[in-house]
Formats: sequence, C-alpha cells, structure tokens
Amino acid sequence: MQQILRTEGIGKQFLIRKGLVSGNILQALDDVNIYLNEREILALVGASGSGKSTLARLLVLLYRPTSGKIYFMDEDVTRYKGRKLKKYRSEIQMVFQDPYASLDPYHTVDWHIRRPLILSHFRGNIDERIDELLDMVRLNPPSYFREKFPHQISGGQRQRVYLARALAVNPKVLIADEPVSMLDVSLRIEVLDLLSSIRDQLGIGVIYITHDLNTVSVISDRIYVLHNGKIVEEGNTPDLIKNPSDPYTRALIDAAPDPYKRL
Ligand SMILES: Nc1ncnc2c1ncn2[C@@H]1O[C@H](COP(=O)(O)OP(=O)(O)OP(=O)(O)O)[C@@H](O)[C@H]1O
Ligand SMILES: [Mg+2]
Repeated sequence: MQQILRTEGIGKQFLIRKGLVSGNILQALDDVNIYLNEREILALVGASGSGKSTLARLLVLLYRPTSGKIYFMDEDVTRYKGRKLKKYRSEIQMVFQDPYASLDPYHTVDWHIRRPLILSHFRGNIDERIDELLDMVRLNPPSYFREKFPHQISGGQRQRVYLARALAVNPKVLIADEPVSMLDVSLRIEVLDLLSSIRDQLGIGVIYITHDLNTVSVISDRIYVLHNGKIVEEGNTPDLIKNPSDPYTRALIDAAPDPYKRL
C-alpha cells in the first residue's frame, strides 16, 4: 500500500497574544508522526483543544509547522510556495464542520461547484461534470439542486454540496474536520456512509476528524488519538477500540454512549 501523506515530527507553537498568559508560547502540537495510505479512512480523535484542527491546517499548509516536515507522495512539501503550493492545495481538500459558513448565500449550488471547475481549467462538459458530482454526493436529481441557494436546502444537503465542491478538483486526499457534528444523528450516518462510498468510488484517502468516538468505528480503518498536542495511541480501528492501551483512549471510549462500548 502506498503512503500518500506523511508527517515527520511536526510541531506547532502559537504565541498567546491576549489574556493573563499573554506573551507565553502554546505548544499546540508536539512531535507528531502520522501517515495516510491511499484508499484509507483515517480517524483523528481527541478532545476539544487537543490539536486536531491545527494538524489539519498544517496538512493543507494553511499553517506552517514550527518544526518537522510534511511529505506528500514522498515529496517534502513543508515549504512549498507559489504555484507548487497552489497545486498541492488542490490535491488536498478540506471539508469543515459548518458548511453554511463556507457557502456564499448569494450564489446557487451550481455556481459553487462550477467555480472550482473553471478555476482549475476543467476541460470537458462542465454541466455534465456538475451533474456527475451532485449525483456522487447523492443530491438527486442534480437539476433540482443546481438552482437552489444555500438557505433553500438542509444542513446535510449543504454539507454534501460542499463535499461535491471539494471533489470537483479531483483531490487525492480529503480532510473532513468534524463534518457531522452539527447534524442530527440520522443525517450523520448518511454523510459518513457517503464519505466511505466516495473513498470506494474514487480511491482517495480520507482523514476524518472528530471528538466523537461513536462515529469512528462506523467508517475508519485506522485511528490516531491526540491528547494535548501529542499522539498518545494509534492502531487499527477494531483493535484499538477493543484493547486501548492508553488511559486517555480508555477514558474517551468510556465516555462514548453504551452501544459503542459493546463493540
Ligand atoms: N491560530 C491560533 N492561535 C493561537 N492558538 C491557537 C490557534 N489555533 C489553535 N490554537 C490553540 O491550539 C490548541 C489546539 O487547538 P485546535 O483547534 O487544533 O483543537 P481541536 O482539537 O481542533 O479542538 P476542537 O475539538 O474544539 O475543534 C488550543 O489550545 C487552541 O486554543
Ligand atoms: Mg477543531
């Protein structure tokens, strides 16, 4: 199996600018080593403030690491700039918790998906491609959804529009940061199932970020547990859930609702 993405001892420090500890340095991530295989769904689990989103932002190079390196397809991308950075960012797409905030209320679903296609100089029939993408995220019939504005569709549907938009540029990696935490339980399963079918159809690698261990076993192949900016445990999903070795992981599992514990 090929590794698509890999970090080598990355760390991230932030300078605290406000409040009582202003001027202090916060070590948000410390010596993090992770890898993602192709066609793999990787879960990144940890409590609030453990550094999950910071790691995601580092992986897409929205932030630069204070130390360590990031490799994409065995190439060191840590200091990429200009055209190389732009290309790299199209290979790694990110989906956020609240797609409402990321969709423009004045534009239709069609516009949201057409734009990345135009910007990435898509060659071919754009209308057909938009339909294909909407179909892939199960927004059917596409012609109905294309004309809608973000406020005219549900939260789960908005999340799927955002997903279609992310997939428009044929990424090799999709990072979903708490993609379902704002959705109802029934919709969560739907979106997770969709992520898994997208991995099957497109063969991309997915990093699924959550603090909710309940949803992890449903879709992930492997798990990293983050605690205070460090990876405290990693392993195949079923093994790790059955037999957590780190006390913090055990606490996370114990905190998950009952049906989950019985796995
Ligand atoms: N831009 C920033 N400047 C300063 N500190 C930051 C910044 N971004 C994150 N932090 C701090 O880094 C730590 C990790 O934050 P991060 O957002 O990565 O956590 P998280 O695991 O995603 O949490 P959540 O589950 O609440 O989303 C926190 O203490 C946070 O306050
Ligand atoms: Mg976060």
